[in-house]
Amino acid sequence: MAAAHPQQALIDAARAVRHHAHAPYSRFAVGAAVLDEQGRIHAGCNVENAAYPQGWCAETSALSAMVAAGGKRVMAVAVVAVVAGAVRVEGAAQSPVTPCGGCRQKLREFAADDVAVICADEADVRATFTLGQLLPASFGPEHLQNT
Ligand code: THU
Repeated sequence: MAAAHPQQALIDAARAVRHHAHAPYSRFAVGAAVLDEQGRIHAGCNVENAAYPQGWCAETSALSAMVAAGGKRVMAVAVVAVVAGAVRVEGAAQSPVTPCGGCRQKLREFAADDVAVICADEADVRATFTLGQLLPASFGPEHLQNT
């Protein structure tokens, strides 16, 4: 059943797709979902590879699904990962899992600075940032408009 609140539906989609992650090397499954300008949700998980650098992130998968479906703009993002069980550097387990630097830039292509990036685990929302907070003073498509 669809959740009443779009943000909850986004988180639910990221939680669900996370279970399909192909992460046999890191064992760190991630799910992501993006809300497009038509109100549709596109989800994706991380897909690792035996040639390690060839793997890609959940956010990249979600963006790819959006573009393939004809979505043009990202209106909200959810990222779901579970840190419990990972090696615990002091304090690390307390910090939310946020998109990596490369994915922040990929999101920037389709999202405004005020777009919410919701970072959650299986149980809770751990933190919410704007994309502008995660990638300040960023480079984007408008910088190429005069070329
Ligand atoms: N990963 C994501 O999919 N998204 C993130 O936001 C952080 C990291 C993936 C990449 C790799 O498959 C695994 O998590 C460990 O870095």
